[in-house]
Order: sequence, then C-alpha cells, then structure tokens
Amino acid sequence: MTKPKKAKSYQAPRGMHDILPEDQKYWRYLQKKAESLLEDYGFDRIDTPILEDVDVFLKGVGDATDIVSKELYTLNTKGGDHLVLRPEGTASIARAYIEHGMHVRPHPLKLYYWGAMFRHDQPQRGRYRQFFQFGLETIGDASEAVDAELIFVGWRFLESIGLKGINVQINTIGDQNCRPAYIRALRDFYKARTKKICDSCRERIKENVLRVLDCKEPGCRTIMQEAPQIMDFLDVDCKNHFRRVMEFLDAADVPYVLNPYLVRGLDYYTRTVFEFVPEDRADGAPVLSVGGGGRYDRLIELLGGSKTPASGLALGLDRIVAELKERDISVPDTVAKPKVFLVQLGDAAKRKSLPLFEEIRRAGIRIKSSLGRDSVKAQLRIAHRLEVKYALIFGQKEALDGTVIAREMETGVQENIPLEKIVDELKKRLRE
Ligand code: HAM
Repeated sequence: MTKPKKAKSYQAPRGMHDILPEDQKYWRYLQKKAESLLEDYGFDRIDTPILEDVDVFLKGVGDATDIVSKELYTLNTKGGDHLVLRPEGTASIARAYIEHGMHVRPHPLKLYYWGAMFRHDQPQRGRYRQFFQFGLETIGDASEAVDAELIFVGWRFLESIGLKGINVQINTIGDQNCRPAYIRALRDFYKARTKKICDSCRERIKENVLRVLDCKEPGCRTIMQEAPQIMDFLDVDCKNHFRRVMEFLDAADVPYVLNPYLVRGLDYYTRTVFEFVPEDRADGAPVLSVGGGGRYDRLIELLGGSKTPASGLALGLDRIVAELKERDISVPDTVAKPKVFLVQLGDAAKRKSLPLFEEIRRAGIRIKSSLGRDSVKAQLRIAHRLEVKYALIFGQKEALDGTVIAREMETGVQENIPLEKIVDELKKRLRE
C-alpha cells in the first residue's frame, strides 16, 4: 500500500511574520499614540503605493547602498515595468511631492506615513524582510530647528509609550561642499590599511567608503578609532548647523550623545543624521536601533524636482513592539470591551437575533453574539469569558412573546423585558 502523501505545510515567507489578533492591541495603541502626537505637531498623513519604479530608489537611496544593491525585491510586470517593493518611505514621499506639484503648497510641508517596507536582508532577531515603519518628513525648510523638532517628536513618542532610556545618537555628515574632502581622507586612511580590514570593508572603500564606519567587526572597529573624523572637515555652515541642532536639543532637554561614526545606510543624507538606540541588553545581544533619520537637502532635486531642503525620520514598529513586550510594558486595549452578549435558542429566535443585535449595536451598546451556536450553555460560557455585564437570552418563547430575558451575569438575576424597551433598559442599567 502506498503511503498517503503528507500535505505540504505552508509558512509565511522567510523573514516575514503574521500579526495575530492578540498582538493587535500593540499596533492599535502605537497608531493611536502616533496620530494624536503628530496631529498636535501639524503633520498630515500621506500614503504611497507599496510598489515603486526601481529608479526612485536607485537614484534616491543610492545604488551603492546595501538596501539597493543587495536587498531590493524587484519584479518585472507583464506590462514591462520594472518595479520594486519599497524598502523605505522617504524616496517615495519625494517622488509623490514632485509628481503632485506639492511645491506650491504652504511650506514647510509636514507629512507622515505608516506602512510595510521590504528588504531582502538576512533575517534575524529584530531584522525582518517585511517590517512596518512610521515616518515623518518635513519638506521645504533648511533650518536646524526642523531637525531638532523631528528628533524631539521621535523621542517624545518613544517616551510617551513607556520606552524610557532610549539613546538619541546624533552626528553630521556634512554636505556636498565639505564631505568630498572627508571622503578622500577616509579612503586614503583605509587604503593604507587594506590588509587589516574585513573583506566587506575592502569593498566598501571602493563603493561607499563612509559605510566602513558602520562595520561591526572587532578588527575594523579598532582601526576606526584612529580614522579621520568628519568634525575636522566640516565647513563653517555645516558646523554652525550642527551646533544649533544640539543647542535646540539642549533647550528641549533631549538627552543625546554625539556618535562621530554614525553615517546611516542611505546615500541621500546631508548634515544631521540620528538614530534612536535602546539601552544595552542584559543578555548581551546586539541592540538594534528603533528609529533613525536625518536631513536630505538634495533628494528631491536628485529625483527631478527643484532644489528643496528636507528632513525626516522613521521608526521601526516591529522593533518597538518587541521592546514593549520584552520590557513587560502593558498597553491598554483601545477596543472597548463588550457589555452585553446575545444568547439565542431555536430557529425563530435565531432568525430575529440579527435585527435585534443590530438595533442594540446601533444604539452604541457594545454587544457580541455567536449566532452559529445552538447550545445555551456554550453561549453563556462565552459571555462569562468576555466578562459582559448582561446576557440577553432570546429563545423560542421570547421570540413569540416579543420579549427577551436580561440576565445580570454577576448575580444571575433574570428579568423578562419587552423587546421595544430593551435598548432603553440596557442603556439605563449600563449607566448605573
Ligand atoms: P532606516 O534606518 O533604514 O531609515 O530605518 C528606520 C527604522 O526602521 C530602523 O531604525 C529600524 O527600527 C527599522 N528597520 C529598518 N530595517 C529593518 C528590518 N530589516 N527589520 C525591522 N526593522 C527595520 C529609513 O528607512 C529612512 N527612510 C528614515 C528617514 C526618514 N530618513 C529621513 N526620513
């Protein structure tokens, strides 16, 4: 006898995960908190497609970055378009800004977005191939106050959800006037040490030398301590810009640390860059930033718009949810709990249950039911589990009489109430 073939068991794609009903409260809570804070700070929501033309990121984020050279999900459509699943939101926002002629709107334009991003990275704890970001972009203002405001709002958001002790690391990477000299000095420094650095860094020297400062290899990190630092190459304008960002942060009491090796993995940055990094972990595992951003004064021009300064940040929501859970921070469930459960028995009652349920729901009373079930016992068990105040028992007799039994769950006291009075009666009793 041939063995029956075992059915294939399907799983979510590697590096991607489901968000189950029991975890939804974290996401609802974060979205609610974010929306109220961002409304106060004058940000408007924008949504862009998950797919974009590949060039938006090749040009915008930079073809030498890991995100673009190694991690893009690409697809050729039947119509011949070359699209990618967006790896981040900033370049998409810049594309939308140009496409919709938003330069005519009052500036600065303050936008925020919330959505899934995709990077074909090596999956590990906290590093996914599909992850959610919420991001803010302030477009059309070159002032250092904007950078400080974004850092402040990001930090405030994290504080407001109970994530204390987040390290704000900041740095500047200069601009097109002063950075080239730094890059030359850095390349010369590393070229003289190619034998002592890792293979990836040897590649980075050719392609994108700033990224060597990001290397986590112990040998490379030791060498990094002696590498030239951007501070010594900044021109007066960049130096002043950075100093003023720090003055704003001091005045707003945002605790920050200067990290001269912070360069970020996207090419569009100019001047200020920053990251939000949780405290070191007790188990010694590497800490991953929960957010990051910076100024990008040339991105819009690079994508075909006019010269427009801008600055922004994005927070990684999967990592934030993981931090909340790890720190045992409980979040309120913003979905109101049901107060009433409708128990039905028999065909006539079952048929009339849906309109009754709807009438009570429309009156603003949180009600639940399980219309598919027949057993009263099973339905009352659900009512208990949901901790409702009242169960409405609607059987054959009640359906004929035009009444319903209201059972107070705590005391077990039951009372027969005419159907036309049930809404008012429930309202009265639930107010008490
Ligand atoms: P990013 O640093 O690439 O910046 O991403 C921002 C945040 O997204 C990270 O700090 C992290 O929390 C989360 N994140 C990134 N990659 C992953 C991943 N593979 N798995 C889980 N979480 C991840 C940007 O995306 C820029 N667009 C930020 C920005 C906005 N700059 C200016 N405006």
